[in-house]
Amino acid sequence: MSAKIISGTEIAKAIRDELKEEVAGLKEKHNVVPGLVTILVGDNPASQSYVSAKNKTAHALGINSEQVTLPADTSEQELLALVAKYNQDPKINGILVQLPLPKHINETKVLYAIDPEKDVDGFHPVNVGKMVLGEQCYLPCTPHGILELLSRSGVKTSGAEVVVIGRSNIVGKPIANLMLQKRPAGDATVTLCHTRTKDLAAHTKRADIIIAAVGVPKMVTADMVKDGVAIIDVGVNRIGMSESGKAILAGDVDFEAVKEKASFITPVPGGVGPMTITMLMKNTVQAARQAAGLE
Ligand code: GUN
Repeated sequence: MSAKIISGTEIAKAIRDELKEEVAGLKEKHNVVPGLVTILVGDNPASQSYVSAKNKTAHALGINSEQVTLPADTSEQELLALVAKYNQDPKINGILVQLPLPKHINETKVLYAIDPEKDVDGFHPVNVGKMVLGEQCYLPCTPHGILELLSRSGVKTSGAEVVVIGRSNIVGKPIANLMLQKRPAGDATVTLCHTRTKDLAAHTKRADIIIAAVGVPKMVTADMVKDGVAIIDVGVNRIGMSESGKAILAGDVDFEAVKEKASFITPVPGGVGPMTITMLMKNTVQAARQAAGLE
């Protein structure tokens, strides 16, 4: 069997088309234009490209997007003051501070300073707490995108054995939590594996769905999965540079070999990546609706 390739590029485009219409409707009916600010500290090339993609997408959808780029030696105080300024700015509905931050800045302190109502990343403890309780909140963008990929491609999750590899706050912990909840793309039996898991292959071999978010290129190999597994590959690993100077990317899964056994698989690039940015836009539109008292 060769797997059905889940195209994040296509699914993201469909959601973006829906959002574009929604943004146009907000302007026309309510004179509301969603506003997003992205804050980048330093010159990490991967972060620069993510932030510029976020701004480009926002503009394409009719969202007002401001990009603030600060030097790597910006102090924590300066960054906190900027966050406080945007917390008060009624034209800004969403504040995104790109991670990782330089070592001298306390990431937790900065994320906690963002008004939970403007926390379109879904990283503030108020939103994390609401997510765990299954309440209405901003869902973190990558897990939110994974839920959409699963439900829009018809992967059955109810009762499925899901193995998540990686326990980060951004992907592993939230996706494991969301998929065990009674919700679309949920109702699964979830195992969360990590670097101290004794026998990873023993877990992955019995999984109906594997979500790989470890940051190790091609770590999940064909001998580690069963026939018919559905694979969501969150890894974006730079494994080299092309002659034209573009980064060559690989996921956490050995795509070529595993696709021969899987029923569904996401490619890298073009899988989870485009969904993350799209769900940020969805959260920003939701933030604008809430700020305008429309929901
Ligand atoms: N760095 C890597 N992924 C993310 C993300 O989803 N949001 C932010 N703010 N930083 C990131």
